[in-house]
Amino acid sequence: MVVNLVIGTQWGDEGKGKVVDYFSKDAYYVVRFQGGNNAGHTIKVGKEVYILHIIPSGVIQGKIGLIGNGVVIDPEILISEIDQLTKKGIKPKILISDRANIIMPYHKILDGAEENLLGNRKIGTTKRGIGPCYSDKIARKGIRAIDLIDKASLSEKLDNIIPIKQKILEIYNIKEKLNKKKILEKYLYYGAFLKKYIASTHIELNNAIKSGKNILLEGAQGTMLDVDYGTYPYTTSSHTIAGGSVIGAGVSPKHFNEIIGIVKAYTTRVGEGPLPTELFDKNGKYLQEKGHEFGTTTSRPRRCGWLDLVVVNHSCMISGVTKLAITKLDVLDGLDEVKICINYNLNGKKIDYFPSKIEDVEKCKPIYKKLKGWKKIDKKSSRFSDLPKEAQDYLKFIEKEVRVPISIVSIGPGRKETIEL
Ligand code: GDP
Ligand code: IMO
Ligand code: MG
Repeated sequence: MVVNLVIGTQWGDEGKGKVVDYFSKDAYYVVRFQGGNNAGHTIKVGKEVYILHIIPSGVIQGKIGLIGNGVVIDPEILISEIDQLTKKGIKPKILISDRANIIMPYHKILDGAEENLLGNRKIGTTKRGIGPCYSDKIARKGIRAIDLIDKASLSEKLDNIIPIKQKILEIYNIKEKLNKKKILEKYLYYGAFLKKYIASTHIELNNAIKSGKNILLEGAQGTMLDVDYGTYPYTTSSHTIAGGSVIGAGVSPKHFNEIIGIVKAYTTRVGEGPLPTELFDKNGKYLQEKGHEFGTTTSRPRRCGWLDLVVVNHSCMISGVTKLAITKLDVLDGLDEVKICINYNLNGKKIDYFPSKIEDVEKCKPIYKKLKGWKKIDKKSSRFSDLPKEAQDYLKFIEKEVRVPISIVSIGPGRKETIEL
C-alpha cells in the first residue's frame, strides 16, 4: 500500500494534471481533496487534450476518481464534465463524498458581487462561487452532496438559507430574485443524476488503504494560494498544502509515503496579488508566449516571472515535500541567461523566508542567481544526461538550494516527454 500526494508549490498551474496522470498508473483511487472547478488540470495523451476542472485527473488512466469531502462541487459543471469525457470515449469512474459542500447559484452571484465591491482591491477570483461556498461551509450554512438526494431535507435547508441570501443580494444592490422552487427542482435533478456516485468516500478510502491498495492524492491550486500560507488575502479559500488532504479526504498522515511538490521551472500567477519575481520585460512575454500561459479555467493571461526558490522552500517546509517534479523546463529553451531568486531584499535586509504580511511581500525585491541558458532540449530526451549541460546545472542548482531530490523532469505536455531521475 502506497499513499502519495501531488501538490503545487507555487501559484497553481504547475502541471498537476500531467504529473498526476503520470503517477496514476499504479493508483487505485485518485483523489481530489480541496478546491472546486476553479482548478483546470490539463492531460495530454497523444493528440488528445483533456481539461478537468473537478474530476480527478486519474480517470484518464481509467482509475477511480474520488472527490473528497474537502472539495466544493458545482453539480452542473460536474455533470457536464462527465458528459464531455463520455463523449470522448472515457466513461469516468467516480465517487463523490456525501459530505462535500455544493456550490449553489447564490454563491456564484455573490462571488462576482464581492469582487465588484472590492474594486481595485479585488482578488481576481475565477468567479466560480468557491469563496462564498467555503464561507457557508465554515458558517455551517452549507448544502452538502447528501442533501441533494433528500427532498425534505434540501427543501428545509433552502427555506432557511434563501431569505438570508436574498437580503445579502439586496445589500449588494443585486435585483435578481432567488426562486426557491426552481432551485429545489434543479438541485434535486442533479441529486438524482449523481446519486449513484455519492458515498462515504472517507470510509471507501480507508478500506482501500487497509486492503493494501495504492492511493494518489491530487492537489489543486498551489501553496501560495493556500488560505493560511499563501499571499492572503490574494488566495483561494481552501488548504492547498499537504495538510489539506488529511482533512479534505479523511486520510491519516501516518499513511503518507511520498509528498511530491511540483515546481514549474519559472513562476506564473493568474489574478491579483503580489508576485515578487514578476517580469514586465521581453523575458516575461517570452515565457508567456512560449509556455502558452493562459488560464485553463478563465483564459486570462498568466503573469510570468523567474523561478522563486523562496516560494518553493516555503512550500516544501509547510508540506514536508519529499520529492520534486520539475515541469515546463523546455519553456526556458533559447534564453541566453536564466535567473533564479534565492532570497528577498526587504527594507534593505536579506531574508530567506516568505513574509506573512502582504504589504511586506509587496516590498520584497528578489535577489537572483544568474545561470547560463541553453539552446534547446531534445523532446526525445529520456535521461538526465540527455539534457543540455546548462539545463542539468539549472536542475542541480534547484536541488542544492531546496535540498529535496528531483524525481521527474517534464520537458513537454505529453506523457512521454518526462524524464525519470
Ligand atoms: P495544472 O493546473 O497544474 O494542472 O496546470 P495547467 O493544466 O493549468 O497548466 C499547465 C499547462 O502546461 C498545460 O497546458 C499542460 O499541458 C502544459 N504542460 C505541462 N507540463 C509541461 C511541460 O513540461 N512542458 C510544456 N511545454 N508544457 C507543459
Ligand atoms: P489549478 O488547480 C491558478 C486563483 C484565482 C484567484 C485566486 C482566488 O488549475 O492550479 P478563487 O476562484 O479560487 O476564489 O480565486 O486563486 N486560482 C488559481 N490560479 N490555478 C488554479 O487552479 C487556481 N484556482 C484559483 O485566479 O487569483
Ligand atoms: Mg490549472
